[in-house]
Amino acid sequence: MSMNLVTLLYLVASVCFIQALKGLSHPTTSRQGNAFGMIGMGIAIVTTVFLVFKLAAQLGEGGNAATGLGYVLVGLLIGGTAGSIMAKRVEMTKMPELVAFMHSMIGLAAVFIAVAAVVEPQSLGIVQHLGDSIPTGNRLELFLGAAIGAITFSGSVIAFGKLSGKYKFRLFQGAPVQFAGQHMLNLVLGLATLGLGLVFMFTGNLTAFAAMLALSFVLGVLIIIPIGGADMPVVVSMLNSYSGWAAAGIGFSLNNSMLIIAGSLVGSSGAILSYIMCKAMNRSFFNVILGGFGAEADAGPAAGSKEQRPVKSGSSDDASFLLTNADSVIIVPGYGLAVARAQHALMELAEKLTHRGVTVKFAIHPVAGRMPGHMNVLLAEAEVPYEQVFEMEDINSEFGQTDVVLVLGANDVVNPAAKNDPKSPIAGMPILEAYKAKTVIVNKRSMASGYAGLDNELFYLDKTMMVFGDAKKVIEDMVKAVD
Ligand code: TAP
Repeated sequence: MSMNLVTLLYLVASVCFIQALKGLSHPTTSRQGNAFGMIGMGIAIVTTVFLVFKLAAQLGEGGNAATGLGYVLVGLLIGGTAGSIMAKRVEMTKMPELVAFMHSMIGLAAVFIAVAAVVEPQSLGIVQHLGDSIPTGNRLELFLGAAIGAITFSGSVIAFGKLSGKYKFRLFQGAPVQFAGQHMLNLVLGLATLGLGLVFMFTGNLTAFAAMLALSFVLGVLIIIPIGGADMPVVVSMLNSYSGWAAAGIGFSLNNSMLIIAGSLVGSSGAILSYIMCKAMNRSFFNVILGGFGAEADAGPAAGSKEQRPVKSGSSDDASFLLTNADSVIIVPGYGLAVARAQHALMELAEKLTHRGVTVKFAIHPVAGRMPGHMNVLLAEAEVPYEQVFEMEDINSEFGQTDVVLVLGANDVVNPAAKNDPKSPIAGMPILEAYKAKTVIVNKRSMASGYAGLDNELFYLDKTMMVFGDAKKVIEDMVKAVD
């Protein structure tokens, strides 16, 4: 394979990645986007494997080149199999943890490559012979790639633990871990990391490199532990961005254009996504990164912490009666719908109502669920027609003229406190204005709070009827009652 062909294939792969990002920006084109991503990655991997083989042969390690290729293929097989099994098994609600785990692996890969490049630069073609000193520019790239990779690795491991909520270890708890002087300690460690990195850059001192790497691992942990579980999806997206920049940094050292382009795409798209998520929650990015939101202490009055207030409740039959007698219905899906895996039953209910002449629409809040696009994916899985699905800004003006709003396992995204209570932790967060509808039906299992740990006035309105129970069971009963 000539270098021209390698460049051409890398270019094709890059175009595929750009098409993938474009496709993934809308539900109707997301499958196509995924396909582009897979094709691009396939081309990039095959080209890189051949490139590595060719370089190894060129570097005069002909005999070892074949063995090296063998190692690469075994690695691909093990990693590829593990990744496929994990991706196939993972439930949609557990996706953010899987993503955090994947980022940790990217960070670690960047660290390994950087260490290999620093110790044996001649093997990666950075210098001609063993003993030649690495150029200063390359040392800067390796320092940045290694430091960002290490922070991404240890930070992602903590994010994974916090998101999974399965481990007893204190640092893996959803509640923020805070102590006096924490930000100052982080600042000092950050400056020390930078200083050691610069020492390595200017002198090539290996001890400085090793110390910088160790501090970066510690820093990754310290940066993430004060952030509450509620902000973890933003953090995961931020770490996604970091992993991209780490890969790009290493790409410069290895002189690999594919790594630079793919790394930059991941880095910038992750940063944009973090920004969009913060905007949808009306949170400042720095506020999220410095921790606090999602902390029980900050979350305001939680449901259950106050006196129990009366609510109107009804059965699935009562809800079906209201729904079938309405002209227009807006369905608001939330995290609980995903937990109950009730999307197929919901689709059946929507079809039956439409069949009876009711106009049914779905309203999606940008941060409903636990990851961007969570509700879109859920509804797409049940084959809800895209033309029935509306984004918040397109449907908010319609709630006032709607007969019935059916809120299914959603809580924070319909909480009027965001608009009415300036002291609320979610004040200013845009919400779906379900409270404006003529009648509101809310399904959830109890009066427990949602992600932000807040009570919700919507549940106590005169026009609201609560239908308690697991979303799947409740919707299936509604379908029977509509029949
Ligand atoms: P939440 O506010 O978390 O409310 C979900 C509700 O579903 C809960 O109150 C729960 O009440 C109910 N529920 C749970 N399991 C259920 C089941 N099996 N059947 C019926 N109901 C069930 O969800 P939301 O309204 O979708 O809001 C999302 C929250 O996540 C927001 O606070 C958002 O800021 C945050 N967040 C999201 C993202 C992204 S990107 N999506 C990122 C960061 C943060 P019960 O326990 O009483 O059933």
